[in-house]
Amino acid sequence: MTDSPAVTPSTAAQERRSCTKAPTAPPATLFLFGANGDLVKRLLIPSLYNLLRDGLLDDRTQIIGVDHNPNSDEGFADRLEAFIRDQAEAKGKSRDEALDADLWGQLRGRIRYLQGDFLEDATYQAVAERIAQADTDNAVFYLATAARFFGDVAERLGKAGLLEEREDAYRRLVVEKPFGADLASAQALNQRLLANMEEKQIYRIDHYLGKETVQNILVSRFSNALFESFWNNHYIDHVQITAAETVGVESRGDFYEKTGTLRDMVPNHLFQLLAMVAMEPPASFNATSVRDEKAKVVGAIRPQTTEEALANSVRGQYAAGTMNDKPVKGYREEERVDPESQTETYVALKLFVDNWRWAGVPFYLRTGKRLTARDTEIAICFKHAPYAQFRDTKIDRMRPNYLIIQIQPDEGMWFDFHAKRPGPLVELENIRMGFAYSDFFEMQPSTGYETLIYDSLIGDQTLFQRADNIENGWRAVQPFLDAWQQGGAVESYAAGSAGPAGADELLQKDGRSWHPLT
Ligand code: BG6
Repeated sequence: MTDSPAVTPSTAAQERRSCTKAPTAPPATLFLFGANGDLVKRLLIPSLYNLLRDGLLDDRTQIIGVDHNPNSDEGFADRLEAFIRDQAEAKGKSRDEALDADLWGQLRGRIRYLQGDFLEDATYQAVAERIAQADTDNAVFYLATAARFFGDVAERLGKAGLLEEREDAYRRLVVEKPFGADLASAQALNQRLLANMEEKQIYRIDHYLGKETVQNILVSRFSNALFESFWNNHYIDHVQITAAETVGVESRGDFYEKTGTLRDMVPNHLFQLLAMVAMEPPASFNATSVRDEKAKVVGAIRPQTTEEALANSVRGQYAAGTMNDKPVKGYREEERVDPESQTETYVALKLFVDNWRWAGVPFYLRTGKRLTARDTEIAICFKHAPYAQFRDTKIDRMRPNYLIIQIQPDEGMWFDFHAKRPGPLVELENIRMGFAYSDFFEMQPSTGYETLIYDSLIGDQTLFQRADNIENGWRAVQPFLDAWQQGGAVESYAAGSAGPAGADELLQKDGRSWHPLT
């Protein structure tokens, strides 16, 4: 690398950096189990369309939707197309321009449908026939089904011999979330998968790892010596990890009632963010080294007793409120939700990572639905500067410095620090210095799944969860699930607010406060 001058927003504006093209993935037949579900039409097909646009899909790659309802290749593709056009229209865009005719024609030509019951052997014979007819023996089985089928489909694929790899033919299984509902069920699912294939064939999805801003945490941390010098308990007071959403449970009342926010967001998405921020430098960016470090740091989260877990957690549930000047209903009034439901739609936790780097630094996590703003961010709060020098000035209080890693929506990194306000007196101003992705890089529309699908085709497991990482996540969350069975209650918060009062108190009792949601 030459020592060229750094890019500034003004030079970047003239020539925004686009990404270097990656090589086309090897050919494969991609089976989408659960083809008629939401994920396929909402995210997987649009991602495959974007991969094709970027020249990353081999001409021989075929996509075969598998589900129990009768349909034809044409009927299935028509349904996907209608959905994508409807979506564009709902967002005020043109139906015709939602898909490029040539590109969609190419993708459509590769889409097939296979009717089959996930629990019947005949389905897997039909899958084997499709592979035999394909131009390639490589196959990826993507489980976009309801979670209860994950183990059954994997076992039947194994029994049919479809998971046996050859040197010139890979067989891979992509598993969606939720991966288990607690530690025991996650361990049981891992055992069922591993009885039928090797860990190197399993790609457990966490879509947060498909986000550029999440991947950037590692690259920025480990390519800038500056960060490493203060990335520890000598300089960092605490870390806040927030995933605030404005949406409610939408049509997923049934799923949410059984799941709740803790299971839905914490052992997976929030712990991925925690791992990226807190892990030790890996020996290299290969999958084994990165996943070793991630598993280690999640495994270092301190287990809490029932009393600690109750004192260090807050559960909230949204009540009716106002958002964008419009009234919105409360969780208990949502479709397929018990009117007396105790399910949480918000959770705040205080955790500790018991290792040398982080001993004594609390990690505060919060996530919830129907909050005042959509804001996924990591706020690294630094220790207070000593006040002594400012004692004889008008400055009576100094805010700590923050480094904000904004995951979404306004992707970037911001550093809050102080500067002297010009003038004869010593007065402080809080200044924000920042990097916004949009100032520097040309970003093509993407769903976040493109990288994950591409990596499953090329065989890179770095951005997928390994069995030990998943189990360590559940192990850290289990004390809260258990403690909540024994005490405490869900606290109400108004839709459109920043969450329950208890979440503020959780930090106030430590003399701290949440970084505001923006
Ligand atoms: C999903 C959860 O995994 O992540 C949803 O099931 C949640 O409840 C979603 O809304 C959040 O993802 P994102 O990418 O919008 O932050």
